[in-house]
Amino acid sequence: MSAPTPTSELFSLSGKTAVVTGGTRGIGMMIAGGLLAAGASVVIASRKADAVEAAVAELSATGPCTGLAADLSTEEGARSFAEAVMADNPAIDILVNNAGATWGAPLAEHDTASWSRVLDLNVQGVFHTTKFFLPALEAASSDEDPSRIINIGSIDGIHVPILESYSYSASKAAVHQLTRHLARHLAPRITVNAIAPGPFESKMMAATLENFGDQIAASAPLKRIGRADDMAGTAVFLASRAGAYLTGAIIPVDGGIATVG
Ligand SMILES: NC(=O)c1ccc[n+]([C@@H]2O[C@H](COP(=O)([O-])OP(=O)(O)OC[C@H]3O[C@@H](n4cnc5c(N)ncnc54)[C@H](OP(=O)(O)O)[C@@H]3O)[C@@H](O)[C@H]2O)c1
Repeated sequence: MSAPTPTSELFSLSGKTAVVTGGTRGIGMMIAGGLLAAGASVVIASRKADAVEAAVAELSATGPCTGLAADLSTEEGARSFAEAVMADNPAIDILVNNAGATWGAPLAEHDTASWSRVLDLNVQGVFHTTKFFLPALEAASSDEDPSRIINIGSIDGIHVPILESYSYSASKAAVHQLTRHLARHLAPRITVNAIAPGPFESKMMAATLENFGDQIAASAPLKRIGRADDMAGTAVFLASRAGAYLTGAIIPVDGGIATVG
């Protein structure tokens, strides 16, 4: 057996370029921060230019970060975002499809618009963004070191949520299956895995955690909600040499919640 790779090298992202959609806050910002701390250059995106500017300023304290405003819920938005990023970065090592939206209401109130709002971004957005970044992901890939796609699913796509968020849970189950399908098709040049987060502090989760945070933490086998390091650590693992032999995996990062309910 050859000597083990030093841990600092095994998890290093030095020289890598990553794209994190929805990197301006919440889970996307946790991941962008983790990738930067591991040595990557990171491009973030969200719809609001002022939020992008503020997040780039904050993340730049950790490493080289740039950003663009983009609406990834339309095919055209995904195309122009990818084209703009690839004009400056013809090789992209890591694509994190994190931008997502949720919606909850009593069953009878779920109309076509509420389904479209969630699925257009959570499912089609992941697909079209991936499709348009493929030339740059291919360009960065080598036999020894495939490029990486990390999709952000949810434990709500694994277990049955208590809240009435039908389009969201369906969209996240779709993200998980899309991950497996793309993994099969894009191997061996590109790996495709999903992180299925449990509860993490974010704007999306603010009301839920304010009302039920203590109950949710108490019901989790690990007795707390997620922290930035939990999310960053899993993303760095999947993006680095350490994660090169996984594809098509759905990894719950949820304190064990999906195992008990
Ligand atoms: N937080 C949790 O506990 C949790 C649990 C399971 C899964 N997740 C998943 O984790 C991901 C991030 O969620 P979060 O909780 O961090 O949510 P969040 O705080 O609402 O952040 C969502 C991010 O996506 C961006 N975004 C929203 N719509 C967009 C669009 N059309 N085009 C481009 N960017 C868009 C937002 O910025 P703009 O508003 O400026 O566009 C923001 O940067 C989502 O996929 C979510 O489903 C979260």
